[in-house]
Amino acid sequence: MAGEGRPRWAEIAYEAIAPVYDEFTHENDYETWFGLLLPELERHGLRTGRLLDVGCGSGKSFAPMLARGWSIVGCDVSAAMLKRGREKVGDSVRLEVADMRELPTYGEFELVWALNDPVNYMLDEQELDLALDGMRRNLSPDGLLMFDANTILTYRGFFAEQIEFERDGWRMIWRGRSSAEIEPGAVSEAEFEAVPLEEGVGEPITPELHRERHFPLEQILAALERSGLECLDVFGYGVDEAMHQPLDEDEHYKAIYIARAV
Ligand SMILES: C[S@@+](CC[C@H](N)C(=O)[O-])C[C@H]1O[C@@H](n2cnc3c(N)ncnc32)[C@H](O)[C@@H]1O
Repeated sequence: MAGEGRPRWAEIAYEAIAPVYDEFTHENDYETWFGLLLPELERHGLRTGRLLDVGCGSGKSFAPMLARGWSIVGCDVSAAMLKRGREKVGDSVRLEVADMRELPTYGEFELVWALNDPVNYMLDEQELDLALDGMRRNLSPDGLLMFDANTILTYRGFFAEQIEFERDGWRMIWRGRSSAEIEPGAVSEAEFEAVPLEEGVGEPITPELHRERHFPLEQILAALERSGLECLDVFGYGVDEAMHQPLDEDEHYKAIYIARAV
């Protein structure tokens, strides 16, 4: 088990959701995201080579880089999520169970990223610092770090909504427990459950809690500095599926940070 002694909310939640994670997130279009993100990384001198995907889950976030010929190490706190990744990529990617709050040093990577929420599973500033320290230790001297952090708009919206839909033989239910009034920096919770509708798709997934913390811009910038990282750029990702500057916490649903070691 990764992260012995630390709260295991994320691990428990992802062990549960793993059988239907790809189905639940079927609308996520990583090729479109990379079409936006890669030029920004290249503008900051990205060199092709090795990617460390932290919180890689079932491999959706590294798939486009694998297709582009990158050598990839992926790690995640959930063995069940990695198992789904392994089914897709076999031995072509090194996949390791690891907690980003105590990330091993796997080598020197031209690019380290944590995409689609891993950073928000850090529930206080100490955990955020541990994650950023670990990612910095894996950077090559001119390597780039990129990660996203959900904005307050996401915690007042998606984490306050109930969403229910059917797909691939499952009914999936997301019950946000947050509210439109939560304060910046708060921890929000949502419950996920899935009910099989057809024989043979799998066992029912009983409700599990996703707990995420909102980190405002100034907290992330201060944490980057404490971890010996220089913030190169911050973008807001909007409902129009475009990147914007400056970040607007009330308009954009994700903040995207690009940094490098000082
Ligand atoms: C929304 S998923 C994103 C997965 C993948 N990056 C993607 O884009 O599909 C968030 C991932 O963060 C991982 N995660 C959360 N807390 C973590 C931790 N402390 N250490 C490593 N991974 C963590 C979860 O297990 C999950 O796979």
